[in-house]
Amino acid sequence: MSLSLKAKLLSNEPVGPEIFLLTLEAPAIAAEARPGQFVMLRVCPGPEPLLARPFSIHGVEGGKLLILYQVKGKGTRLLSQARPGVELLTWGPLGRGFDLDAKRPVLVAGGMGIAPMAFAAERLEERGAAFEAFYGLAAKEALVAWDSVSGEGAFYLESWGWTGASEDGSVGHHGLVTEPLRERLKQGGERPGAVLACGPLPMLKAVALLCAEFGVACQTSLEAPMACGVGACLGCAIPSAGGGYLRACQEGPVMEASLVDWKKI
Ligand SMILES: Cc1cc2nc3c(=O)[nH]c(=O)nc-3n(C[C@H](O)[C@H](O)[C@H](O)COP(=O)(O)OP(=O)(O)OC[C@H]3O[C@@H](n4cnc5c(N)ncnc54)[C@H](O)[C@@H]3O)c2cc1C
Ligand code: FES
Repeated sequence: MSLSLKAKLLSNEPVGPEIFLLTLEAPAIAAEARPGQFVMLRVCPGPEPLLARPFSIHGVEGGKLLILYQVKGKGTRLLSQARPGVELLTWGPLGRGFDLDAKRPVLVAGGMGIAPMAFAAERLEERGAAFEAFYGLAAKEALVAWDSVSGEGAFYLESWGWTGASEDGSVGHHGLVTEPLRERLKQGGERPGAVLACGPLPMLKAVALLCAEFGVACQTSLEAPMACGVGACLGCAIPSAGGGYLRACQEGPVMEASLVDWKKI
């Protein structure tokens, strides 16, 4: 069930360079939220900008909804200036989330793709389910942001046993996250039931192709510009492997990678 409501902003703290952690009072949405789902959020209480923006659900704490976001343009800049106490029109939870039932899944997060993947990891931990996880980023700075989100000091992802990779070599493997992922898939031993991934499209495409090569099921969370979030505007079309298009907000954002025509992405 998806709800539309005015959610009170409880906090909106910088946690890294242009990265903020937002907390909203939205008990009805928080109660329904599943990892991989998102909300549409009007970024300020006034009339500008008219469009809402999509954000993954980063976590829930009781009736609170957590969103981890990076400033990209006008909307997210305005959002970063919103102060506690204002009410922001919010609707959700929207879209299809990750299927967490696969045996021993492997999570892969790239950049801000950590937002939903951290929620997925939390839910798997709550269930006592075994999983492995990889994260990739451009440089260490973003990791510092995630560390302060956890409040646990340096490199909480590593202390959780996540395998890291950075393009500049400042943390973890020097290179792309798909390189240690390939090594993992090449290994014998227990085969992952699925790979669950969220990040930039080139990373998702590389992960999807790797999984196809190794015959492992793959769920990808796809980003597309979204004006309505509820299937009405067709602004979020993703080329479908079967021809035509899939709407990222309805058939996704999490889709089986085999449903997507990656050649057109
Ligand atoms: C399902 C979903 C979940 C998301 N979750 C998060 C999240 O958890 N944290 C987070 O920081 N961001 C997330 N995003 C991206 C976020 O919605 C955009 O960064 C935001 O809408 C940008 O708004 P803006 O007004 O600041 O920028 P704009 O001025 O609208 O755009 C700035 C730049 O970003 C590009 N852009 C805008 N929206 C998108 C998009 N959806 N996909 C790709 N490029 C885009 C534009 O082309 C432009 O180059 C998510 C997007 C989707 C579709
Ligand atoms: S955002 Fe309007 S149809 Fe998907």
